[in-house]
Amino acid sequence: MSDAQDRAFDELAPQYLLDVPRGIASTSVHADARMDPVAEYGRDARLFVEIGSGQGHAIISAAVSRPDDDFLAIEVFRAGLARTMLDADKVGVRNLRLVEANAPEILASYLPEGSASEVWIFFPDPWHKKRHTKRRLVRAGFGDAAARALEDGGLLRLATDWEDYALQMREVLDAEPEFERAFEGEWAERFDGRVMTAFERKGIAKGRDIRELLYRRKTRA
Ligand SMILES: C[S@@+](CC[C@H](N)C(=O)[O-])C[C@H]1O[C@@H](n2cnc3c(N)ncnc32)[C@H](O)[C@@H]1O
Repeated sequence: MSDAQDRAFDELAPQYLLDVPRGIASTSVHADARMDPVAEYGRDARLFVEIGSGQGHAIISAAVSRPDDDFLAIEVFRAGLARTMLDADKVGVRNLRLVEANAPEILASYLPEGSASEVWIFFPDPWHKKRHTKRRLVRAGFGDAAARALEDGGLLRLATDWEDYALQMREVLDAEPEFERAFEGEWAERFDGRVMTAFERKGIAKGRDIRELLYRRKTRA
């Protein structure tokens, strides 16, 4: 990482980065650890969670435009976390926290059950080689973790420029008993709260279509 990125971790982490008890790996979360959103944000507000937030462009823009909501960025890429903290600090965002962790673990145990109003996953790594597709985040089992974290009626928003992954996302989530489609037709409309990131721009430049999906968490029995 650059000096600026090191500085972000030294100076801005106390304000932005959650101090998570770890499991075995450095990006794992101890199974007994639970986030206390009211303590972390200093208030009780709706919580929006982005998985694989990259450089933080989408979530910072959302946090700035919606000061009454709280935002959590989950990312394993340290340089991306540093960039997000530097940019968040530049614009003085207060309703954003970051966590350096493997996202499924945050959904499956660290977030309190039903605490998230929405979970976003925009342009996740496509792992396009056949032998690597099992590494994709949205695969069988992902729906359980997302459904646990979401409140009743909460939304799961997804976007990708990789057709085969879009089809996989839709197949996996259509099969999830806790979710129902919240879009008509083949794909969801573009989410107007999502700003264009470098990954989307690159996909478009390569002539790929952007596909979005929107699922609603069903009410718990
Ligand atoms: C292709 S990038 C997209 C970043 C961002 N969403 C955007 O649209 O610009 C995917 C991101 O997901 C992150 N990522 C991959 N696996 C992850 C995991 N298990 N937990 C958290 N983040 C992950 C990567 O580090 C990378 O920054």
